Amino acid sequence: MLILHNVVKTYAGKASVTALADISLNIAAGEMVAIMGPSGSGKSTLLNLLGGLDVPTSGQVLVAGCDLAGKNEKERSLFRRSKVSYIFQAYHLMPTLTVSQNVALPLHLAGISTREIERKVAGALQDVGLESRADHLPDELSGGERQRVAIARALVTDAPLLLADEPTGNLDTVRGVEILQLLKTINRARGTTIVIVTHDQKAASVCARLIRLRDGSVDGDSAQSGDAA
Ligand SMILES: Nc1ncnc2c1ncn2[C@@H]1O[C@H](COP(=O)(O)OP(=O)(O)OP(=O)(O)O)[C@@H](O)[C@H]1O
Ligand SMILES: [Mg+2]
Repeated sequence: MLILHNVVKTYAGKASVTALADISLNIAAGEMVAIMGPSGSGKSTLLNLLGGLDVPTSGQVLVAGCDLAGKNEKERSLFRRSKVSYIFQAYHLMPTLTVSQNVALPLHLAGISTREIERKVAGALQDVGLESRADHLPDELSGGERQRVAIARALVTDAPLLLADEPTGNLDTVRGVEILQLLKTINRARGTTIVIVTHDQKAASVCARLIRLRDGSVDGDSAQSGDAA
């Protein structure tokens, strides 16, 4: 599903930063993987490359057989729409749209009927426990509630690849564990490939594989039970 081959990502600027230094990785379809590592170790950069939001400076990024390194912005955007759900570290909700409208957004882009959209949005809001906030605007919500809206928006589309950057960073322990169990259920029921960036050991422990990054390199890659939390 995901193959990285000698991937390097350097950000140019006053002082150029090597965010990823020669990473090679293979993640099979249906895996649920946690990525951990210190702040600045390249976790979000890696996720951005996997989701086709950015391209590597050198090396190959193959996602579902598609070589993203060679694609332009427009081609990558079409690819994202059909294949990838993304839970951003900073949510990226539309401030002028209600909770329901935010969650429905990716479905409108996919051209689904209004009735089907309403059904899916209601289901996703129920999954994250936000039915009662459907008509609120994002700035009328708490940080954790906004995070759950972003999660619901990522879940409505049934994309084969789900990428999540600190999905439980603003949630209390109980709610965080609930969300992770929900992601795990989706992983099992739909076979969705899931990659979660997290600082939280407990979040990582629901994943069957843990990859550690340090200074832009893989510093550990091991299988674990994935039963905890
Ligand atoms: N757009 C950018 N321009 C320049 N440097 C960047 C850019 N984005 C990230 N970096 C740098 O690349 C390195 C990796 O950043 P990245 O965001 O991938 O880290 P991270 O592991 O996600 O950290 P955190 O846990 O704090 O979210 C950092 O040193 C960061 O300063
Ligand atoms: Mg980050």
